[in-house]
Amino acid sequence: MAPDAVEVIGAKRDRQELSDSQIDWVVDAYTRGAVADEQMAALAMAILLNGMSRREIGRWTTAMIASGERMDFSSLSRPTADKHSTGGVGDKITLPLAPLVAACGVAVPQLSGRGLGHTGGTLDKLESIPGWRASLSNDEMLSQLESVGAVVCAAGDGLAPADKKLYALRDVTGTVPAIPLIASSIMSKKIAEGTGALVLDVKVGTGAFMGTVDEARELATTMVALGQDAGVSTVALLTDMSTPLGLTAGNAVEVQESVDVLAGGGPADVVELTLALAREMLAGAGHDDVDPADRLADGSAMDAWRAMISAQGGDPSAPLPTARETHVVPAPSSGTLTRLDALAVGLAAWRLGAGRARKEDAVQAGAGVVWHARPGDVVTEGQPLFTLHTDEPERFDRALEVLEGGYAVGDGSAYTPSPLVIERVG
Ligand code: URA
Repeated sequence: MAPDAVEVIGAKRDRQELSDSQIDWVVDAYTRGAVADEQMAALAMAILLNGMSRREIGRWTTAMIASGERMDFSSLSRPTADKHSTGGVGDKITLPLAPLVAACGVAVPQLSGRGLGHTGGTLDKLESIPGWRASLSNDEMLSQLESVGAVVCAAGDGLAPADKKLYALRDVTGTVPAIPLIASSIMSKKIAEGTGALVLDVKVGTGAFMGTVDEARELATTMVALGQDAGVSTVALLTDMSTPLGLTAGNAVEVQESVDVLAGGGPADVVELTLALAREMLAGAGHDDVDPADRLADGSAMDAWRAMISAQGGDPSAPLPTARETHVVPAPSSGTLTRLDALAVGLAAWRLGAGRARKEDAVQAGAGVVWHARPGDVVTEGQPLFTLHTDEPERFDRALEVLEGGYAVGDGSAYTPSPLVIERVG
């Protein structure tokens, strides 16, 4: 007899392990609409509170993959590698990383999403480039991967539809921060996408899902095991997200910073993380004889970027949009910037219009926050510390409110920088 939803919810409520057939049934029935949203919400909350074993997480992931199509890149002439970040503030790394790895001879099929809440979405950033389009058919994607070597596009509806439905439900029922559900959600999409190698950038800190290294390590270990069990060469880096990456958070401002990196400049932390992730992707794809730093220096990564943007209708030479209004926040005193909080900056960028509150909202291409110093830098009273950008000046007050208390200028003698790459799992 088929299980029923109340029995499955009751089992997890009572801390029992779900059987393979219970998991297969409930994921499939929910996708078909035979299990109601309120039932799945109750089950998701029971999973959040009572957890899942490794076997349950593996089976749940497999069931979500089976709900849709699987892509196949085996016809390509080069190996594939992808990167997934659990989401952070100022995290534009995909933009320089995908063309850089392509310039090293490994194809990057990057299916990305739009941002929700204070973490920005890669597609929102790229859509600030005039003409660029996020939607590609599977055939277009394959042909661009062969010709250019890198694609960043919207994940189609065919990949893990169970996750699409469940993630939207989790978003409105307080059940996003559950390690079994995050791990299976991310890995079902990445495994269905068909990449040969995968590098996970698991963020730790105020601006991330995972606030502590222990939680991030557990998520990373779970995802690495899921990837390896599915035959995908998978490693994870735990990286710091207590401070935002680079000097910009927003859409066009982050594209500009990425182009700076591809041109051989850009903030040191963005360059460091881009190279660290590129090396892991190349190693996973069996290409660790190539040094990505050479490809940044010789301009071939920039050539791949221009080709990647043009192939999707974008004009890589067009000026990027700018916001109509700016507001400068000066340094309150002279000293060292000892703290710059990722969550405060992310929320400020969001309130300026760079992010959305609901899926259907539009984002402003020019909105965001630019900071002119990083923790550890010496600043002088009155010098610009932040520039806020928006088309709607009435947004400044709410952004300033959240930024206040998100930074500190003081005595730098006790300041010790925290490492960007905290740990490797794999
Ligand atoms: N990103 C995902 O794709 N899924 C989650 O559950 C969390 C972050």
